[in-house]
Amino acid sequence: MSKNKIADRKKDHLELCISGKVEFSERTTGFEKYSFEHYAPTEIDIKKIDLSGEFYGNKIDFPFMISSMTGGTKKAERINEKLAVVSEELNIPLCLGSQRHALEEKNNYYSYRVVKDVAKNIPIVGNIGAAQVAKSKDPADLFNKIINMVNARAIIVHLNPLQELIQPEGETDFSGLMKNLELVCKKIDVPVIAKEVGSGISKTAARKLLETGVRGIDVAGAGGTSWAAVEQLRSNQKDLYFREWGLSTSYCIRTVNELKKEYSFTLIGSGGINNGIDIAKSIALGADLTASARTILVELMKKDVDGTIDLIKSWFMTVKKIMYLTGSDSIKKLKKVPLIREKEMY
Ligand SMILES: Cc1cc2nc3c(=O)[nH]c(=O)nc-3n(C[C@H](O)[C@H](O)[C@H](O)COP(=O)(O)O)c2cc1C
Repeated sequence: MSKNKIADRKKDHLELCISGKVEFSERTTGFEKYSFEHYAPTEIDIKKIDLSGEFYGNKIDFPFMISSMTGGTKKAERINEKLAVVSEELNIPLCLGSQRHALEEKNNYYSYRVVKDVAKNIPIVGNIGAAQVAKSKDPADLFNKIINMVNARAIIVHLNPLQELIQPEGETDFSGLMKNLELVCKKIDVPVIAKEVGSGISKTAARKLLETGVRGIDVAGAGGTSWAAVEQLRSNQKDLYFREWGLSTSYCIRTVNELKKEYSFTLIGSGGINNGIDIAKSIALGADLTASARTILVELMKKDVDGTIDLIKSWFMTVKKIMYLTGSDSIKKLKKVPLIREKEMY
């Protein structure tokens, strides 16, 4: 595909995600179906609650990261620079958008590299698509280039079959993906995370991915941004069936978490995470970390760096209130708090 076409597509994605109607309209994350078990004799001092944790050996201050979004254009460079300031201030990982464009067009390199120059301490997470991994003749070399570009401490491989299907210029052939993933996981030093982009990862899919050696699953489930909606708006398509396609985020977290008995991996809850309640419920369902994309982008556009930092801090103030009311003073304890499903509540 021509380099200009990739740049145009990235521009469309940014514009539509900032101003378009791109959320699922019927399918929800499912978090609204759960309530926390209130714990009346709480002895938690809200001021002493510890939210810190770790991300593949790196200490972080909140169980949260900014999801993969952008790179490859001048506007993306400014956005990445600001996201880097937000992440550095909060000491949380920052995930980059697909680095494919920088590999194909050297002029775009700095729109990614900028994050490393601004945020010197936080873990930067690289990103590449399943289609590129599948067709690579030398996947270890591909990953090493991505890692070196930003000194990445983990790499996300995004699995976006629905998006590729709806995108007029989409690449729908992922054959060879799992073989190449396995090869890469053996050869490179940084952990690989498999991630969807809004359709979710099932327990069956997660098991297959973990068998290749990936060390993280970011479910990126349904209920937030619908990439079928984004691509349908881009190409003016009328068939809206696939707009609602996907597995709800809460379902993915709950079921993929069952694999913790068999595999050691980091479970990331994302897809429609829009407030502190979603974050706390994700953790109580089993997520080690949570992440959010479009809501952060929209806030950055509206209220810039300081407003975005304030938003994330306010989400974690809500998490602390929930921890106080459920008797949990650490993320480890929040993970054990019972969630009551709607039908059992009455
Ligand atoms: C503008 C924009 C660009 C994105 N680009 C990428 C990408 O390059 N790689 C990727 O893995 N995910 C990408 N995503 C998907 C997000 O990381 C996320 O998985 C998805 O939007 C669902 O999360 P949300 O409901 O919080 O937006 C992008 C999202 C947005 C909003």
